[in-house]
Amino acid sequence: MSSDGPTITSLELEDRRFPPPPEFAAQANATQELYEQAAGDPEAFWLARTKELLTWESEPTQGVDRSNPPFFTWFADGTLNASVQCLDRHLAARGDQVAFHWEGEPADEREAVTYRDLHERVCRLTNGLRERGVGKSDRVAIYLGMIPEIVVAMLACARIGAPHTVIFGGFSPDSVRDRVLDCGVTAMITGDGAWRGGKLVPLKANVDAALEGAPDVHTCVVVRRTGNEIGWVEGRDVWYHELVERQATEAEPEIVDAEHPLYILYTSGSTGKPKGILHTTGGYLTGVAATHRWVFDLKDDDVYWCAADVGWVTGHSYIAYGPLANGATSVLYEGAPGTPDKDRWWEIIARYKVSILYCAPTAIRTFMKWGVEYPQRHDLTSLRLLGSVGEPINPEAWIWYRENIGGGRCPVVDTWWQTETGAIMISPLPGVTTLKPGSATRPLPGITADVVDANGQSVPLGAGGYLVLDEPWPSMLRTLYGDDDRFVATYWSEYEGKYLAGDGCRRDEDGDYWLLGRIDDVMNVSGHRLSTIEIESALVDHPKVAEAAVVGRTDETTGQAIAAFVTLKGHIAGDEALIAELRQHVATKIGAIARPKSIVLTDDLPKTRSGKIMRRLLRDISENRHLGDVTTLANEDVVADIANQAEAARAADKE
Ligand code: WTA
Repeated sequence: MSSDGPTITSLELEDRRFPPPPEFAAQANATQELYEQAAGDPEAFWLARTKELLTWESEPTQGVDRSNPPFFTWFADGTLNASVQCLDRHLAARGDQVAFHWEGEPADEREAVTYRDLHERVCRLTNGLRERGVGKSDRVAIYLGMIPEIVVAMLACARIGAPHTVIFGGFSPDSVRDRVLDCGVTAMITGDGAWRGGKLVPLKANVDAALEGAPDVHTCVVVRRTGNEIGWVEGRDVWYHELVERQATEAEPEIVDAEHPLYILYTSGSTGKPKGILHTTGGYLTGVAATHRWVFDLKDDDVYWCAADVGWVTGHSYIAYGPLANGATSVLYEGAPGTPDKDRWWEIIARYKVSILYCAPTAIRTFMKWGVEYPQRHDLTSLRLLGSVGEPINPEAWIWYRENIGGGRCPVVDTWWQTETGAIMISPLPGVTTLKPGSATRPLPGITADVVDANGQSVPLGAGGYLVLDEPWPSMLRTLYGDDDRFVATYWSEYEGKYLAGDGCRRDEDGDYWLLGRIDDVMNVSGHRLSTIEIESALVDHPKVAEAAVVGRTDETTGQAIAAFVTLKGHIAGDEALIAELRQHVATKIGAIARPKSIVLTDDLPKTRSGKIMRRLLRDISENRHLGDVTTLANEDVVADIANQAEAARAADKE
């Protein structure tokens, strides 16, 4: 980051406002008071919250320990077990309550898993893993699709005190091996295969290839899901059903210190090898339980659905640990949104009478592209609250979500957070906050954030800059696994004492936060730093546009020029006239400075498997650079097509 550059220039103004409906506010879990309670003494606030939300074996007497920054600890003298928080303590009151309505991708495969069932399954697997020699502090990798066993596996590890590392089922053997080695994994839990979009993902074959280079893995437990032929390594491999069948239905939980590692989750850095984000037990559970209760306003009769994959942090915090710690009833869906038809999600919502839906902007934009006829086929009136996570949400997508999914009556909570933060940091409270489409609004009670310039000075309201979190919070990452130096260098060395989130942000005149994308998604055009998201939102605002990605490309005159990639709605055909119209549309919405230099129309945008648009790749395409690793792409074949068109656009530029 240069030390004297201007702060991010932010041009777009979105002035629609949605105050909380009075009926919602009247019954909401979280009230304005929470902010006030927290503001006085955040540490005491969190200590009180953790005692209220968790059942500690021995209660902590201290909040945060700041003696060795940035290695903060929370509730360090308390002891507990995470699986007890999620299961045992609910059995008396909620044993027969459904924890997960599981829905398989193939039609008619369903299961209602109660808290009692889940407890028994976790205990059996705990005993099975112990039989195989897995003990406290051993690292266990989990590589499964979206079936109940993925949650069972996480909780069994937690019961043993063995940190898990869940590897998203879409990763290649090489990625699996890198993580297994980096983490020093000795046991794995996988499946024969997984269903995704009607296709079989060969999990076991991938694991076999990965483990060729990982001789320390002594045990591989295999869940039978798809029934395909698989390879077998005698001595190492064991069928899940055979292992658990012979086990007792109770298993002693390992009581651990609050700071005992709960899991390691790998996330890609902007360069280099993936970072192993380490979360510990007490602070993490406090953060996810509190935020799940406040932000999603969870009530006993809610049916909650977080449509993320358990392989990402959203699934860890808001499918597994947060909802289970709170005793929620959730939906767990195995498959793709378009299988067998484009109304699958809406069918699921109607079937289980889902009341809270939490998903990603990329899903919402896909549904916009598919059209309203799909949600309109089903009764969605059970919904009362909608959430968004993972990317900035364009105001048009936000409004579409509110109108077409939420029937105009459900608050939409845009939740900003990261793998590193463990839990939601910046988000509306649905019974308190006046919503603004595209804004994550304010830091939650007990969280303090700031927007700073390149010198670390707070920028005035109305200006843009870099988002930092300036006080430790309970669910924060504790380090990068095995790499304290990289932890300090990545997050804590830019500004003294502040956590650098790596996102650009603007605070408006009311103090509400507008996330502007990753810092490396910020462009510099003629000395103005422009955020990619604002231009993308202006494009998506055009009635014919479904989705847009914007990157900066080197330009002799302006430093960087704006290159846009656009997919159109439905079957609209694009031509030069439409491209001119889109460029003008952005100029009209934001200003001439933001007019894209080139627009490439494409059927799809390159996305990571978690659905984030890969702007890095689009930058490489725009710069005509050699394309780096594309193996984490969900849709590799779109790349060649886009590259050809971008080449043509560049050639036209020179003429
Ligand atoms: C982005 C996902 C804007 C952001 C929970 C962050 C968001 C990165 C939002 C973390 C949001 C997440 N608005 N941007 N509501 N939520 N992001 O680690 O750039 O997969 O730094 O965690 O996603 O992604 P991660």
